[in-house]
Amino acid sequence: MIRLKINGQLQTLNVEPRVTLLDALRENLGLTGSKKGCDRGQCGACTVLIDGQRVYSCLTLAIMQEGKEITTIEGLATGDNLHPVQAAFIDNDGFQCGYCTPGQICASVALLDEVKNGSVSYVTPDLTSAPQLASLSEAEIKERLSGNLCRCSAYNGIVAAVQQASGQNPPSPAASNLGTEVS
Ligand code: FES
Ligand code: FES
Repeated sequence: MIRLKINGQLQTLNVEPRVTLLDALRENLGLTGSKKGCDRGQCGACTVLIDGQRVYSCLTLAIMQEGKEITTIEGLATGDNLHPVQAAFIDNDGFQCGYCTPGQICASVALLDEVKNGSVSYVTPDLTSAPQLASLSEAEIKERLSGNLCRCSAYNGIVAAVQQASGQNPPSPAASNLGTEVS
């Protein structure tokens, strides 16, 4: 028996020690928003937030998460009000089939917090000053979301969604989906 705090609610589960957090969410708790793409840490479809940090839930065990705050895609909205990142994905057509989308959104929520906290990425041009959301480049967003794959290749819309959630002006959805550069 373990107790996990998921989306603000304590849940009691009876799981074997070998059960991943992803399987516990989907099979034991019916939280099927987190997707299983590869089950081996390659696609990011299972991304959730644990104590505010993005984690592949297929690569961590449920029994390791007692005492932590777990947030899944189901926990991002407040009632009928979507999280700003969820709304930005809709506004910018940041998906096609939607299978990768819960992971993309959870990763994007963490991405914004990481930038706010001054975390640099592999492509941050200036390591002497903290990156800013308002000037986060397309290359930075792509690098910071490189752990989340999209088989539909909705990347232009995904980047535009993160730009919008960062307070920037993304290109129009039609333009971004055509891959057109719009200034
Ligand atoms: S299902 Fe976890 S990374 Fe692909
Ligand atoms: S929207 Fe289909 S895999 Fe990303």
